[in-house]
Order: sequence, then structure tokens, then C-alpha cells
Amino acid sequence: MDTYNVLLLGNGGREHAIAWKLIQSEKLGAFYIAPGNPGTAQYGINVSLSLSDFNAILSFIREKSIELVIVGPEAPLVDGIADFLKKHDVLVFGPSQKAAMLEGSKEFAKEFMTKYNIPTADYSAFSSFDFDDALKFIQLKDTYPIVLKADGLAAGKGVFICNSEEEVKECLLSIKKDKTLSEAASRLVVEEYLEGEEASVFVISDGHTSHVLHNAQDHKRVGDDDTGLNTGGMGSYSPAPLVTEQILDQVKSEIINPTITGMSLEESEYVGILYVGLMITKDGPKVIEYNCRFGDPECQVILPSLQNDLLELLVATVEQRLDEKTIYLDNKYRCCVVLASDGYPLEYEKGKEIKGIDQVDEDAIVFHAGTADKNGTIVSNGGRVLGVVGNGNTLKDAINHAYKNVELISFENKYFRKDIGRKGLSRLG
Ligand code: AMP
Ligand code: GLY
Repeated sequence: MDTYNVLLLGNGGREHAIAWKLIQSEKLGAFYIAPGNPGTAQYGINVSLSLSDFNAILSFIREKSIELVIVGPEAPLVDGIADFLKKHDVLVFGPSQKAAMLEGSKEFAKEFMTKYNIPTADYSAFSSFDFDDALKFIQLKDTYPIVLKADGLAAGKGVFICNSEEEVKECLLSIKKDKTLSEAASRLVVEEYLEGEEASVFVISDGHTSHVLHNAQDHKRVGDDDTGLNTGGMGSYSPAPLVTEQILDQVKSEIINPTITGMSLEESEYVGILYVGLMITKDGPKVIEYNCRFGDPECQVILPSLQNDLLELLVATVEQRLDEKTIYLDNKYRCCVVLASDGYPLEYEKGKEIKGIDQVDEDAIVFHAGTADKNGTIVSNGGRVLGVVGNGNTLKDAINHAYKNVELISFENKYFRKDIGRKGLSRLG
């Protein structure tokens, strides 16, 4: 087969970055994105499909003779889309439902790490009906801060860091009151607080062979200096100087290899992208969380560095031929600044006209996230609106390049963090 007709699922900045990289492949045939965004519409055809309607997705695949499906976000993977499509003989990039449990159930991930001796925070798990037991356990432990995590997917809202018994009580009550959260917290993980700095390592795995793609650091809090509410991510840079060669070797031998081997021993071969969220503690790297897909906005800084043909790499992965591949990266730094709607992650206004996207310089990249095309005008349509990626031979240059281009884009209520990458710079001295 010479080319592949591809369907990419998702509609965020991550999917725009995946689409941007895929169209550089000569192997790409017809290209559809569901539901996509105005950014992905530049490269392929956006299709309005619900990611929870697997039958409608399958009908579309048959109608358009799709040969490869690439799944961007976690929810359909955790709901079993890879198993469903595979059962219908469709080639799909993304882990099975069982393998996606590494993200879909924090308790599963903790049990798995304990069984395979993978460094992570100590924990205990409780059923939501035992909130009193959880409280008693925490009172007995009497060590703060302590971390409470809803077991299931909670769109980034399921983690609470409590500094006192009072805060624990408030948190348990607020979980009980919130319907989505209380469903996600049908089990609750109580976890030791880890001190250190965070970074993420992205791995591609065919179940047997795995390669590190790259590492990055996200900025999860809405405000400068990591203040304010948690968000999906306000910016990223790559590579992170925090992830030294020695740390990366440790991550490979103590975390990545045992994870891929362990999943295989559990008969849940891990095929897809494994996002390893780490705390680099004084005792070495420890896993904070696994995710079963690319990070957003980390994907936006990693894929531009990747020199491989992404489509070939993904096909080799689903065909379990990753041992034939070597990962090539350019030697540049990249920085992504997210332009958000002021008020995010709480309430914000949408529908603001965006100007200047076409003004950015030719080697800066603007990835769409929450945008919409309103009769030919691009308007804001979400909390995280755009990601502006700058590159450079040094981290400093990459940051300056990103912020220079951020200034060229305007919309009412534009908000962004001013300190993306600063922690990385301070490590470089
Ligand atoms: P998550 O939603 O799992 O990405 O967690 C959100 C954030 O909570 C992480 O990025 C960390 O900053 C923080 N966090 C989660 N678990 C811990 C932990 N055990 N110790 C310290 N911080 C944590
Ligand atoms: N940026 C964090 C995530 O994708 O989960």
C-alpha cells in the first residue's frame, strides 16, 4: 500500500499539531479529522462526528475507506474505541481499553506500579462510601500536604492537594456535591505529597519495543509563578533541562521498561503514546500520573522537533515493527504559549474575533485549540484558544520567539502566562 487514508479523532491544539505533522508525510492519502477545528481544516476535511458514537465512526470509516484511525484524546480510548475498531478490522493507533486504564483508573495505575516496583508516591484507596474511613486514615496519618485523587477521568479536576484536616473535609464534601466528580471518585486515592519539580516524558510503544520521543515541561496553573487554579496547561517547553541524561536513563530503566513489560505480563500490551508525568524528587524520578495519549500543550512542542515521518512511525507501531525505527530529533528548543480567554478555567466569553494569525513569522507555528470559523472569520470558542510555538537554538531564543509572535495576535479577553519556560532558564543558569 502506498498511501493511507487517515481519520484523526479530536479537536484541540494537540490534534492540530498531529495534523500539521501528518500532512508532511508522503504516505498520507485522504485525510479527515473528527470533529477537528479551523486549524485542522487547513490540512484535511473536518467531519462532525461524536467521539462517543463508535458506530457512527465505523460507518464513516467504511464509507471513506479509512485505513488508519489515530485517537487524540483519552476519553474514547478509556471507553474502548481501539478494541471496538480492531474487532471490526480497522487499524487504530491508541491503546486498548485495558491498557488505557493506566490513565482511566488512578487506583489501577497505583496497584500496577506497586506490583512492578515502579517509583511513585505511597497511597491508599477507598470506596467513596467510605469517606469517613478516608478521613480517619488521613487524621491518623496527620501529615500535610496530602493529595486526594478521584479514581476516574475528571478532566483535570480530580486532584486535590490539601494542607490541613479542614481542607481535607472541605474537599471530601465538594467531591460529594459535584455529580461528575463524585462519579469519577467512586473510588478515591489518598496519596503522599511529593516534593520536587515536574516534567513529562513521552514514549511510543508497540507493546514490545518502546522509544522515548522527547520530554517537556507543562505549566498547569493559570497564573504566573504557578499560582491560581489548575488548567489543562497554559504553556510548555521542550526539552526540559530538568530531565538530564542521567534522569532520563533512570526513567527508562526504573519506569518505562517495567511499565511496558508489566503491561505485557498483565496481557494488556501497551500500544500507543504513553505520557509519563513525573516528579523529579531528591530520591529520583517518581510517577505522578500516566496518560494514554499525547499531552496538550506538550504535543505542540514535541512534534515540531521530531524528524521522523509521523505517519510511518504510527503505522510501524500498530504493526508492531517499532524495533525497525530510530527516533530522530532536531537539536532545537521549543516553547508554546497558550492564549486563553480571560476567566478560564472558570467562566469566560467566546465569539471574539481573532486577528493577526497570518502575521506571525514563517517559522513560528500557531496551533488552534478553542477557535471557530464564523462565516470566514476565526473567533474564540473555548478556554484555551491558540498555542503559539517559537523555536530557537537556545531555550531563551525559543521563549523570545514565542512571545514576540504572541504580541502579533489579538482578540478581546486574550490572556496568557508571561513566564513560560522561566523555570527551565533558571536551571541553565
Ligand atoms: P493530575 O490531574 O494527575 O495531572 O494532577 C494535577 C497536578 O497535581 C499535578 O500536575 C501535580 O502538580 C499535582 N500532584 C498530583 N499528585 C501529586 C503528588 N503526589 N504530590 C505532589 N503533587 C501532586
Ligand atoms: N497538559 C496536560 C495533559 O495533557 O494532561
